Amino acid sequence: MNAPTKRTVYLDHAATTAVDPRVVDAMLPYWSRSYGNASSIYKLGREAHHALDRSRQTVADLLNCTPNEIIFTSCGTESDNLALRGIAFERRQRTHKNHIITSPIEHHAIGHTVEQLEKHFGFEVTLVPVDRYGMVDPVDVEEAIRPDTALISIMYANNEVGSIQPIAAIGEIARHHKIPFHSDAVQAGGALSLDVKALNVDLMSLSAHKFYGPKGVGLLYARRGVSFLPMQTGGGHERNRRAGTENVAYIVGLARALELAHEELLDSNARIAALRDRLIAGILDRIPDSQLSGHPSQRLPNNASFLFKYIEGESILLNLDLMGVAASSGSACTSGSLEPSHVLMAMGFAHEVAHGSLRLTLGKENVDQDIDYVLEVLPGIVDKLRQISPLYSAVGVA
Ligand SMILES: Cc1ncc(COP(=O)(O)O)c(C=O)c1O
Repeated sequence: MNAPTKRTVYLDHAATTAVDPRVVDAMLPYWSRSYGNASSIYKLGREAHHALDRSRQTVADLLNCTPNEIIFTSCGTESDNLALRGIAFERRQRTHKNHIITSPIEHHAIGHTVEQLEKHFGFEVTLVPVDRYGMVDPVDVEEAIRPDTALISIMYANNEVGSIQPIAAIGEIARHHKIPFHSDAVQAGGALSLDVKALNVDLMSLSAHKFYGPKGVGLLYARRGVSFLPMQTGGGHERNRRAGTENVAYIVGLARALELAHEELLDSNARIAALRDRLIAGILDRIPDSQLSGHPSQRLPNNASFLFKYIEGESILLNLDLMGVAASSGSACTSGSLEPSHVLMAMGFAHEVAHGSLRLTLGKENVDQDIDYVLEVLPGIVDKLRQISPLYSAVGVA
């Protein structure tokens, strides 16, 4: 059989995306032409301020909220930190509530923040379980609520396995119990509806680089009336909720990227999901002892994650890289560590199974030929790794 013609295929859109050239165009004037400080009163400053106002309005329209409810931040991680710490400290000070509910499959921006709140600041944390598909059951969230619950934070869509959580139902429960509800929507941005009213969220985090915007800019939606302690103090920026001179060019980029994502959502989701489904079917069909991880239907349109028995996800990645394919085993932040993914462990997979994970996340520039190529090279890579795997020979399949 002829060796496949090598091509470059990017299948790690959950890690980050390329900035759309239309986003770059929108940002360009704010580098060295309208470069004023948005707080300055002269013309240059006013230009920057208007750009900020326009961006805030664009984002608010897309999220179905008011511009004052949008706080621009430096990234999704900062938005998550601000929501969690800000609410936890404010609520404890004002209401003496000390308990946080979250899930074990959150991104580390939530998981490590909650761990720190528990370890160093005396908060109590309940992790609601997830099922085999990585789904949170709203009933479990309700059961975890205590009189001293200060905050609930459950992610909208998981970054590793793509499962989409029943956010609106969880939000309804939180509202019924008058507990602020935050959702990390970083992976959902650009793929799912972000209507904060329909989702019943009080706070929601987004990050531009997941939807073809620049890295280093995010936002936190905070519903009017939900008060939190600012984590960054200084000037009165963002209505005293996040001090620091606004990064106008990046904020303009975030707003333009979100606008484009929203305009193109239906078409691009349908096209990407069709490619993803072909990829999933092809892999499960061609590779024995493989399984899909995450929910079979309630999953992000671009996420195809797998578990391959007897081998290491990291070795698959290195071999794919040699063949020009960029992929991930779990989240970009956990790749490179030898610990199996906390998400797969929480879903109930054994260590040795969780180690063989591969995440392929598609994007708008992927085409049919990319899928053909992966289906051509991946079975050979898995087979080659299994031939040298002690686990594989130990079970007598070699
Ligand atoms: C679910 C989730 N939350 C938060 C983040 C952090 O976002 P940022 O990279 O903008 O800090 C990520 C990034 O991968 C993510 O996937």
